[in-house]
This record gives sequence, structure tokens and C-alpha cells, in this order.
Amino acid sequence: MSNVFPVSDHVARMKGSSTLIAAAAAAEMRANGIDVIDLSVGEPDFDTPEFIKRYAWEGLEKGLTKYTATAGLIDFRNAVVGFYASQFGAEIELNEVAASCGGKQALFNAACALLNPGDDVLIPKPYWVTFPEIVTFCRANSVFIETEQTDFILTADQVADSITDRTKLLIINSPNNPSGRVIPPDEMRKIVEVCAARGVYVMTDECYLFFAYPPAEPFSLATLPEELREFVCVAGSFSKTYAMTGWRIGYTIASEQWTKAMVRLQSHSATHPTSFVQYACAKALRDTENTMAAVESMTSEYERRKNWFVPALNEIRGFKCSMPDGAFYAFVDVREMLGETFKTSADVANVMLNECYTVVTDGAGFGADGFLRFSYATSMDNLRTAIDRLGNLFGRTGVQTA
Ligand SMILES: Cc1ncc(COP(=O)(O)O)c(C=O)c1O
Repeated sequence: MSNVFPVSDHVARMKGSSTLIAAAAAAEMRANGIDVIDLSVGEPDFDTPEFIKRYAWEGLEKGLTKYTATAGLIDFRNAVVGFYASQFGAEIELNEVAASCGGKQALFNAACALLNPGDDVLIPKPYWVTFPEIVTFCRANSVFIETEQTDFILTADQVADSITDRTKLLIINSPNNPSGRVIPPDEMRKIVEVCAARGVYVMTDECYLFFAYPPAEPFSLATLPEELREFVCVAGSFSKTYAMTGWRIGYTIASEQWTKAMVRLQSHSATHPTSFVQYACAKALRDTENTMAAVESMTSEYERRKNWFVPALNEIRGFKCSMPDGAFYAFVDVREMLGETFKTSADVANVMLNECYTVVTDGAGFGADGFLRFSYATSMDNLRTAIDRLGNLFGRTGVQTA
């Protein structure tokens, strides 16, 4: 074929996902028989809890194999309302909830329903790779907020200083991918107050909601009073906190009007997430005892790994990493290593890949050149092997700090 495919301007402007590029490099090495340690994946290594699988089967047996309403089964939406009431004391209404095919579609729906070409969207750095790409797709402009001076924790003052007449939306993500930082609830509330006072909307990606390590606590913006929630869209997901990445289910919690606009958009794209998956998730959200026990057991295992892994990373010569508050990523500052041999953190990542078969994600894709993201959603054996290999490659300082 000789024709060059005329990719649309919308898509041509979007970049491929850097997290998927690292995973593809790992897969290729593995296919060539190399024993690769892949710390690039943003996916739980746990299987979906058995009782949720049984609920899906129950849904199939009940004949839930047909279309549902575009916003999702009433039962699913009611279960989200009930779950947020029981877990967080949130007072949300049925018509403020819509089902989506994962957190990613929830974010996409929310942004596309709000943004016009030329709008400015505030995105704190470091950010999840998809945020600026969705903004680009909408022909809006990403305006980045530097947060390193506050240890990568966004503050209301930083938001206030960044808002202009063109600002339409702020995107936040706490617990954060890639930094592992959690914005304290009081600061989150202040951030929304600053935005609401200037008519700026807030999209909050709560996909790691329950992965907050004490003293950090799970906190949802769905708990804000109605006058603030009017400006907020919560993008929720079952992928990470319930180990259900492949099921493709998430939801939005937003004002009735914002929800209606998102549902209109979704009615012409995915329509709705899989019917019996919605059924299973509704059952799981009502079965809070089993669901929260599963979430707690996964969270405490991530915490155990983090408590071993982060000090061990800090012992590698040139690596600097503070203890994450949430999610399952260690965000390592390698700027001390840059100079003649390594010009960028991508060079460090490449050497790790080629010389000790350890795959991580370069920070540049997250707006943080000079950093590397290590996922600890993998076994302790893998983490130990990675540390051994990195110690041999770069050397150890003999000092473990966190
Ligand atoms: C911050 C963040 N938001 C959203 C997603 C996507 O979640 P989902 O699988 O629900 O689409 C991810 C996945 O890596 C993520 O890290």
C-alpha cells in the first residue's frame, strides 16, 4: 500500500502513551527469552477478588446480556450513591452518577462535555500522561502548575496564582500517579473553593482513592457541599482499587447538567460499560464487608512493599525518593546522576533496560524530566531482584533513607 493514511488533526496532535511504550519494550525483551523485571506497569498484580467474579457470573445467569441505559443500570448508579454515603457520608443523587468504561472514559467524557477550543486547563505537574492528551483532543490548552517547591502537593495558593480569565478547568489526581502524593482534605477543599469563586471547574481523578497510607486517608471530593460540588466532576474507577483493570468500568459523579452532557456524548461512543459487569460492581459496592476487606488487604500489601522498597531504592547511588503517601508508585529523582554519561532520565532508564533488564517509566511523559517512576504493584521477589540488579549496576551508598 502506498497511500499515506490522512490521520485527523485531532488525533495527529495526540502523543502515544509513554507508559505503554515502556511496557512494549519489556514485552519485546520477554518474547526474546530475557528475564525482564517490569516495574513500568500501572496495574495491580492481584487478581480480581473471587466474590466479584461470582457476582458477574450471577449477572450473566440473570440474563444481563443486553443493552442497559446509557448512564448505566439504575441499580449500579444507586449502589454508587449508597457506597459514597456509607463510606464517606456523601450526599449525592442518582441523577448525578453515570457509569463509564473505566476512569479513562469518565475523564474523557467530563473534559469533552465541558471544554471549547482555546479554553485553558490547569494541570499540576507531575501529571498522569493522559490528562494533557485529552485537553489537546478538545483543542484546549494545557497550562501546567509547578509543584516541586511544595513537595509535589498542589496548594490552593498555587491554583489561585494560576487562574486567568481563560481558565475553564483544573484537573487533579490524588493519590497521584506518578508522584504518590496525597493532597490533604483541607487543602483539596480550599482548592475547590478558589476555583468555584472564579467559575473554574474541577475534574478529580480518584482512581487510587483507597490506596492512601496512614496518616493519609481516602478522601473524595464527592463529600463537598452542593454549592462546591456543582463545579466538580469525580472520575471514579474500579480498575486499581478493586483489581479490575480488564473489566473496563468506572463512573462519574457530577452535577445533573454536567452528567446529562456526558451521557449524551457517551450515547454516541461506547454507549455504556458491559451490563453484567455493572451488575457485579453494584453487588460489590453493596457488599461493603467483603469489598472493603479486599481493598484493605491489597492496600496493606502495597504498604508493606513500599516500606521495604523505597528505603532500598534510596540506597542505590544517585537515587533519591521520598516516601509515597498513596497509589503504588515510587517516584525517584535521578537528577544527581545527570551529566556526561547520562544526559536525561530517559538515558538512565535505557541503561537500566539494556544492562540489567529492569523496566521503569521515564518521568518526561509525566512532565518531570529527571525522575523515574517505579511501580511496586509487583511481587516482593521482583522488587528484591530489581534492587540487586540496580545495586550491581550503579552501586550502593550503604545508607537507607526514606
Ligand atoms: C491516574 C490514572 N487515572 C486513570 C487511569 C485509568 O483507569 P481506568 O483503567 O479505570 O481507565 C489510570 C491508569 O493507569 C491512572 O493511573
